Amino acid sequence: MKPIQVGLLGFGTVGGGTFQVLARNQDDISRRAGRGIEVRAVCRRDLAAARAAVGEGVRVVADPMAIVNDPEIDIVVELIGGEGVAKDVVMAAIDAGKHVVTANKALLAVHGNEVFAAAHAKGVMVAFEAAVAGGIPIIKALRESLAGNRIEWVAGIINGTTNFILSEMRAKGLDFDSVLKEAQRLGYAEADPSFDVDGIDAAHKLTLLASIAFGVPVQFDKAHVEGLRGLSSLDIKYAEQLGYRIKLLGITRRRDELGGIELRVHPTLIPTQRLIANVEGAMNAVMVQADAAGTTLYYGKGAGAEPTASSVVADLVDVTRLATADPDHRVPHLAFQPDRLDGSLRILPMSGVRSSYYLRLRVADETGVLSRITTILAENDISIDAVLQRESLEGERQTDLIILTHTTVEEKMDRALEFMQSLPSVLAPIARIRKEDLA
Ligand code: HSE
Repeated sequence: MKPIQVGLLGFGTVGGGTFQVLARNQDDISRRAGRGIEVRAVCRRDLAAARAAVGEGVRVVADPMAIVNDPEIDIVVELIGGEGVAKDVVMAAIDAGKHVVTANKALLAVHGNEVFAAAHAKGVMVAFEAAVAGGIPIIKALRESLAGNRIEWVAGIINGTTNFILSEMRAKGLDFDSVLKEAQRLGYAEADPSFDVDGIDAAHKLTLLASIAFGVPVQFDKAHVEGLRGLSSLDIKYAEQLGYRIKLLGITRRRDELGGIELRVHPTLIPTQRLIANVEGAMNAVMVQADAAGTTLYYGKGAGAEPTASSVVADLVDVTRLATADPDHRVPHLAFQPDRLDGSLRILPMSGVRSSYYLRLRVADETGVLSRITTILAENDISIDAVLQRESLEGERQTDLIILTHTTVEEKMDRALEFMQSLPSVLAPIARIRKEDLA
C-alpha cells in the first residue's frame, strides 16, 4: 500500500525529532502501522535550515497553507504552538479533510470543543498525545487502557520547568528568582517563563486530562491556576522538616456530592513517602486513582525533541491504522462519545475545594499569639494536625509558626486567614500552601 503522506508544520525541536525518529525506526513503525509513514513536506520559515535537515526528496515550504492545501497530504502534524496561526492551520486542515496530529495544549485547552466538533463533523481525527507530558503515554492510558474504570482523581507534575526549579530550590536552598535565572541560563526555562512558572502550561494540560477522565467539555477558563512566584524556599525547608515535598500539582477530582469536578493547579505539599513526591528535575509524572485499577503512576520525560516525538509518531501510527475505519468506531477524541459529554458536570469554584493546609505565619514572639491563632482556626471549624515553632533567634523577638491543618473547605480557610492576617502580632503575609495526601 502507498505510504501515508505527512506534512510537518513547524520544524523546530519537536519537528526535527519527529523527522529523525520516523527515519530511524521506519521499519518497525511501518510494520506496526500496516503501511509506511512518509514525510512529504515540512514547513519552516528558514528554508535553507529545513532543506539541510531533511535532504532531497522532501518538499520544503515556508507557508503552512502550502501543506494544508497539498491534496497528496493525508495527515498534518501541527508543531507551531500557540492559538494564532496554529489554530487557523488546524481548522483549515480539518476543513480540507485531513487528519491532524498536534502537540498544542494551549490550542486544545482553549479551543478544543470547536476543534473536536469540526473534526467530528468532517470524520477526521485530531490526535494529541504529545500535548500532555511529552513522552509519557498518559492520554492513551486514560482514554483507552483505563476505559473500564470510574476515574476518581488525576494529579500530576505536568510541567518540567517548574519541577526543575522546585528541585533546585530544595536541593540548594536557593530562592525562586535565582533558580529561575539559572534555569534560563541552562535552557530549562524560556526567556519569558510566565506560561511555565505561573502554572498556565500545567493548567492547559490538566484541562485536557480532566475532559478525558470525566467526559466533560474542555473548560480551561474555569481552572484555578497558581504558579510558583511568591513561593519561599523557607516553606520548602519547613515542609521537608514535617515530612513533605512541595510540587506544582495539577489536580482534577470528582466531587459527586457537589455535582462537579475540581480543576486546579497550585503548589502542593505531598508526603515524602509518595513516589510522586520524589519526581525530581525536569521529569513529569501523573497519578490516576481509578475504581478498578486502583492507583497507577506514569513517569517520564515531559519535554524534549525525541520524548515528544515519540508521542507524535505514536499518534501517526494510530491515525494510519484507523484512517480507513468507520469514523464512529474510532477512539473518541475525549474518550467519551461526543454526544455523551456531560455538560452538567460543572467545574467547581475554588471556594468549595476540600484540602488540608500548610500555613506559615511570621508572628511576634509574645504572650497569647498562638492561642489567638488557634482560636480563629477553631471558630472556623478547622482542626489542627501539627504545629512547628522554633525559638526566636537571639534579639529577634519574632518567629515562624508553622501549622498543618486537617482537611477543610477552602472558603473556611479563606475566612480564617482573613482574621489571622488582621492580628497585629502577625507581622507578614501568611503563606498558605494546600496539602494533598494522594492516598
Ligand atoms: N514547557 C513545558 C515544561 C514543556 O516545562 O514542561 C512543554 O509542555
